[in-house]
Amino acid sequence: MSRPHDADASRLAAQSLARGDVTGWFEDLYREAAGGDAVVPWDAPQANPLIVDALADAGDAVGRSALVVGSGLGRDAEHIASLGYRTTAFDVSPTGIDSARARFPESAVDYVVADLLDLPKRWHNAFDLVVESITVQSMPLSVRDDAIAAVASTVAPGGRLLVISGVRADGVEVDGPPWPLTRAEIESFATGGLTTTSIEQIERADIPGARRWQAWFDRTPSRP
Ligand SMILES: C[S@@+](CC[C@H](N)C(=O)[O-])C[C@H]1O[C@@H](n2cnc3c(N)ncnc32)[C@H](O)[C@@H]1O
Repeated sequence: MSRPHDADASRLAAQSLARGDVTGWFEDLYREAAGGDAVVPWDAPQANPLIVDALADAGDAVGRSALVVGSGLGRDAEHIASLGYRTTAFDVSPTGIDSARARFPESAVDYVVADLLDLPKRWHNAFDLVVESITVQSMPLSVRDDAIAAVASTVAPGGRLLVISGVRADGVEVDGPPWPLTRAEIESFATGGLTTTSIEQIERADIPGARRWQAWFDRTPSRP
């Protein structure tokens, strides 16, 4: 019988969380994967089709900046850069960032090691487009409010935030990772001056992991 594709992630997450380290397993996983000893379950051959479709109608990218949260192996960041955004992509895992750079040696993306829970101050209200796809749900509920507030804080005046996440029904307990988001948690991205533009649930055959939240939030432009 073949191993589940998330077996390595589950093993390393259990070890990391048992020692109270909520993000350390990502580095462990990317390091083992770089040595050919583990599989990264979210390592898809293409950019996330939900992101591709959502950004197809999102307006002119040229001259605008984008931030990709928890960018992993870089597929989504590369797609966003290909649209014309000046793209910064960050991940807490140094090996994850090294692996993305190695995969895309000619990349226009600025790949940065950074922790969502301790972001550089210069990223506050700095980006015209922010894309958060299944990173908040990969962190335990104990840091959820801080993670959501940190994502929201990076959106510039006049900027937009796209959130993609798994769906958790209200009152349902999950033994993550992942810890998918409830509707109330999705709504809570409208914080620190962001307003909700749309929240929908999407189910598509070409999206792994069944149903997803897709939500847009906007920050009012500054007065001239
Ligand atoms: C489930 S993966 C998703 C990766 C990518 N967004 C995708 O959709 O393929 C979560 C990613 O977020 C990163 N991550 C987790 N916690 C983080 C944190 N506190 N700060 C920055 N990145 C983090 C992990 O290293 C991992 O690459």
